[in-house]
Amino acid sequence: MGGAFITFEGIDGCGKSTQLRLLASELRMRGHEVVSTREPGGTPLGQRIRNILLDPQIEVDPLAELLLFAADRAQHVRTLLRPAIESGNIVLSDRYADATAAYQGAGRSFTTEMIAEVIHLATSGLKPDLTLIFDLPVAECLARTRRRTETDRQTDRLDAEDAAFHARVRDAYLKLAAQEPDRVRVISACGSINETHDRVLEVVTPFLKSKDQSPKSKVG
Ligand code: TYD
Repeated sequence: MGGAFITFEGIDGCGKSTQLRLLASELRMRGHEVVSTREPGGTPLGQRIRNILLDPQIEVDPLAELLLFAADRAQHVRTLLRPAIESGNIVLSDRYADATAAYQGAGRSFTTEMIAEVIHLATSGLKPDLTLIFDLPVAECLARTRRRTETDRQTDRLDAEDAAFHARVRDAYLKLAAQEPDRVRVISACGSINETHDRVLEVVTPFLKSKDQSPKSKVG
């Protein structure tokens, strides 16, 4: 039985990483083999690239930024994603190529053609089977990011972009969902963590059923 590739997207502060963790443990509890990963930073090389990309002290030219995300993705696809999917795992990735379309395409204004070319080069055509976009108004995301910063983390270089940048990114994600409604599903992230988790299960459970991803039977 083939694996499945599910990606988690949305603007910064939308809560996708928490939802990924909750879905991963739920699916493991149901007996699925799950691999959780992220972009940038899903591989040892990617972790180094992530440190460069998110460092607020380093000025990164927009083209260099686009290509660094692509380099991270090429390594991720070839050394982790494809092998894990081909071995039959359900692979959950915190961001993937749609983030480049939204952040570097709409956010930084590279053309659709250039973005598509770079994505194709990095992924050699590997597309998610399902993409969940966690949607929340920009002001609410920025407030969540600020609260998070007060407690346990630093603002990274992309978090620090202004509200107009994040509004363009959000619109781009919603457009993607309208263009590819079978693959890309918008999930409202306005409620509590548990409410959003329930919405995730409402989408993922029938999806896995349709892919015939019943849990592998365990021997012994
Ligand atoms: P993420 O790990 O989701 O941030 P956080 O840890 O704050 O939740 O993503 C890091 C940043 O990288 C985020 O601002 C989005 C950005 N990004 C791009 O601009 N392009 C891309 O292709 C990817 C994968 C991420």
